[in-house]
Amino acid sequence: DRTRTPFIAGNWKMHKTIAEAEAFVAGLLPRVADADGVEVSLCVPFTALQAVVDSTRGSRVEVYAQNMHEAPEGAFTGEVSAAMLTELDVHGALLGHSERRQFFGENDRALQQKVPAALAAGLKPMLCVGETEEEREAGDTERKLRHQVQEGLEKVPLERLAEVTIAYEPIWAIGTGRVATPDQAQEAIAFVRALVAGFDKEASEQVRVLYGGSVKADNAAELLALPDVDGALVGGASLDPASFAAIVDAAR
Ligand code: G3P
Repeated sequence: DRTRTPFIAGNWKMHKTIAEAEAFVAGLLPRVADADGVEVSLCVPFTALQAVVDSTRGSRVEVYAQNMHEAPEGAFTGEVSAAMLTELDVHGALLGHSERRQFFGENDRALQQKVPAALAAGLKPMLCVGETEEEREAGDTERKLRHQVQEGLEKVPLERLAEVTIAYEPIWAIGTGRVATPDQAQEAIAFVRALVAGFDKEASEQVRVLYGGSVKADNAAELLALPDVDGALVGGASLDPASFAAIVDAAR
């Protein structure tokens, strides 16, 4: 449904110093200057946020953090609050990426707080969900997605639900080169949208649901053409301006 603006997000993960980030932006901006009708964002390490906000100002590129703590402030060593991000003019925050869930103990209970806290602070939340290979093989994909989507959205005021972006990233496809088949991506993402409809039908038609996991310039167009796939969350291929811009192009 092309009433939803296509959305291409790059997740740099723990890559790029400030100098590297600025060189990337200089390479990217001329390449996406004509990408009218595509929303583009970069999920940037905390240390490079200010530099990327400054160097993308006035362009179509929005800047997201890769995590955010749910509390307004407090004794949470190593964490960053919503106010610390909005002060930098950051636009949004990636929440619940599978690497944060797997390596840093991020759970659905915290995400239940994080998604509405981001919205309340004026940050656009991008909630990540997805099953492991084991869960898929055991026929547990829908159960996992149901749990993650319902918990993550539970405390979002219904009138703000459409502002949340959801990224479906099957864990077995992340960084493996094993992209989901079009059928697998469409089926899971339609299911995610149906879960949103369980909260609010109208919001489910407006919410963007992205696919993530081994998206590259040469497989993006096929995925982006799927009826329920509204964009892509790109890891490895977002580290180079030419390959990321080629994926943005595929969304036009
Ligand atoms: O958040 C994006 C990511 O997890 C996908 O990574 O390298 O498979 O595109 P990659």
